[in-house]
Parts: sequence; C-alpha cells; structure tokens
Amino acid sequence: MPLNGNSSDNNTEKILNALDSSIVVIDDGGYIDYLNSAGEQFFASSLAQLKGHSINELLPPDSPLTTLIKQVQATGCGVSDYGLMLDTPRIAKQLVNVQVTPLVDQLGYAILTIFERSIADKIDRQLSHRNAARSITAMSVMLAHEVKNPLSGIRGAAQLLEQGMDQADQELTRLICDETDRICALVDRMEVFSDRRPLERGPVNVHKVLERVRQIAQNGFAKKIRITEEYDPSLPSIDGNHDQLVQIFLNLVKNAAEATASPNGEIVLKTTYQHSVRFAVPGSTSRTHLPLVISVQDNGDGIPPDLQDHLFEAFVTSKPKGSGLGLALVAKMVDDHGGVIEFDSQPGKTIFRVILPMSTEIAEQD
Ligand SMILES: Nc1ncnc2c1ncn2[C@@H]1O[C@H](COP(=O)(O)OP(=O)(O)OP(=O)(O)O)[C@@H](O)[C@H]1O
Ligand SMILES: [Mg+2]
Repeated sequence: MPLNGNSSDNNTEKILNALDSSIVVIDDGGYIDYLNSAGEQFFASSLAQLKGHSINELLPPDSPLTTLIKQVQATGCGVSDYGLMLDTPRIAKQLVNVQVTPLVDQLGYAILTIFERSIADKIDRQLSHRNAARSITAMSVMLAHEVKNPLSGIRGAAQLLEQGMDQADQELTRLICDETDRICALVDRMEVFSDRRPLERGPVNVHKVLERVRQIAQNGFAKKIRITEEYDPSLPSIDGNHDQLVQIFLNLVKNAAEATASPNGEIVLKTTYQHSVRFAVPGSTSRTHLPLVISVQDNGDGIPPDLQDHLFEAFVTSKPKGSGLGLALVAKMVDDHGGVIEFDSQPGKTIFRVILPMSTEIAEQD
C-alpha cells in the first residue's frame, strides 16, 4: 500500500486528490490498491467500493489498456498511449490519453494515469472563445462612440433633404435612412458585448427556458421544422440569468433551423447530467464542476469546414444576410455563466453543447 496514513502521506493524498487526471494504483495481482478523487469521479465509484477489486471490473480484459498494464507489470518499463478509446462497463465510451508507470520499490505495482481528452480539448476551446469575446468587447465600445453618433447626424440630414425633393430623389434619401437604421440595429446588437455589469443570477429551470425557446421558434422561424425534446427530468437548476439563457438557446435553435431544410428538418433539444467533467478555472486554483449539458442538434448540411476554427468570432457568417454575431454573442453569454460551449458537426448531424455549472451551494456539497 503506497499511502500509510502518516502526515506526509496525508499531504501526498491531498496532492493526488487535487489532480485533474485520474490515478489508479494496481498491485502485482491486478487488484486496485488506490484511486484518487478524479479516478473516483471518472469510474463513478469510490475508493472504498473498489479497493481490493480486480482491475477487470473497471476495464474489460480485452481492453488495450489492460494489455498495457500487464506489459508494464512484466517489464517494469513505463508506457504512454494517446487517443485511446476507453469503453468500460462503468463509463460511456470516451477518448483518453493514458500513462502507465511502474511503482518504484513495489515490484509488479503499476500506476495508471488517465487524462480525459475531452477536458483538454474543451479547455483549449474555452480559452479561445474567451479571447474572441474579449476582442469584440473592445470593438463594440469603439463602434458605439465612433459609428452611432455620426450615423444619427447622417440620418437627420437625409430627413431634412427629403422635404424639398421630388418623388425619385426621396427614394434615395429613404434608402439612406433605412441603411443607417440597419447599421444602428447592428451596433445596438453589439452593445451587449460591452455590457460589463455583473450578471443578475438566480436559480433557473433550464427546461422552462427551452420550452420558451421552442414556443418562440415554432411560432416564427421554425414553423415547419420538427422539434423534439429529450430531457433528463432530474436536472438541477442552473445558477443563471433567465433572459440570457433564452437568448443563448434561441440563437442556437435559429442557426439549427436555418441549417435544416423543411419538410425533413429536425431539431433535437436534449438535457443530460454528467458526473465526470471538471475544469480548472484559468487564473484560479479552484475546479469547477460542469455537469449540466444542454444540446441543440440538427440534421442540416453541417458547418462549412473553413468556418469551424473561427466560428465563435464576430462577423463569421456563410449567410447572405447574416451578421455573424449570433455565436459570438452566445460564446460571451455562456462564458459569463462560467460555462463552455462546444460543437461537433458533420453533414446530416450538427450538435452544439452548452455545458454549465450547477449553482455553487449544490456544487460545494459534491
Ligand atoms: N447548426 C448549424 N449548422 C450549420 N452551420 C451553422 C450552424 N450554426 C452556425 N453555423 C454556421 O456558423 C455561422 C455563424 O453563425 P452565427 O449565428 O454566428 O451567425 P449567422 O447565423 O450567420 O448570423 P446572425 O446569427 O448574426 O444572424 C453561420 O453563418 C453558419 O455558417
Ligand atoms: Mg445565427
């Protein structure tokens, strides 16, 4: 047993439990000797439940990982493997990086470290969305000052000119007014980015939010599209802002509706609770649990590959009349909620997933 319960072992245990990666110590007979907190979450079982049980209860005997562990126990040399698909009786299929190292002084013992790929990928994407949201904040402040004021001057001048003009010329001045109104509306939409007031939060029932979004969609832009719901009824409340959450999902459902062709267009709204996703919050030592997953799936043609790397930046659009602000706005609002947004897209199936924290009090008991 590597940890004997004295004070330096207590510290070691604290350190091991603070790690985001799952650590499993396996003895020379293939039995589980130790599991850190991340490992408990990953395999959805406690150390007390698993200690002394065979590793085969966690990993099928034909799993490539079982072979790696046996190899390390036999040779005493460490190995790493990247992008391994873990399919275990206890957890859903997932892609991981693993490292198996022999335990010094304990012949036949192996330490298995599992790095969840999805977490690494999500943190990367989360940071790039944050940067996108910040750069647009600066631009929206500038636009409000430098564009909106001159525009109202131009509009006023056009209205004055209109009075003394004949019908044909009035059409031109009306065009000036209409176009300046359009630019003003665009700048107004961008002003949300420069709003730095703290978010007014409270417990929000996400299913009520989705119901509202579905109603708006089916009475307007998604009249002819089938919207189905797959909800986890036990989902706890979100600590968030109701109106912003409606806006987030309205933008996602609108994009989904625009991407699907009726009469076969279909959108699936889904909510799930996942146990094992934890994030390191940049600039802080705390870890956030992000267990609430709300996804919007459509059966459209998919996101054009050349847009995918910049999807959450402002003005990225493939639509003739699109402003390309929808997803930039969504990324900012999700970020303000302490959450993450990600997507998977291929022709016929595009999913946007918004992953949000639970309200703090509940998360602390976790
Ligand atoms: N569900 C989806 N399926 C396919 N492409 C999508 C989907 N969602 C977004 N996109 C692509 O991402 C681009 C950016 O979306 P975004 O919502 O930011 O802007 P937009 O919809 O073009 O304009 P706006 O939302 O401002 O009216 C879209 O133009 C489209 O090409
Ligand atoms: Mg949009």
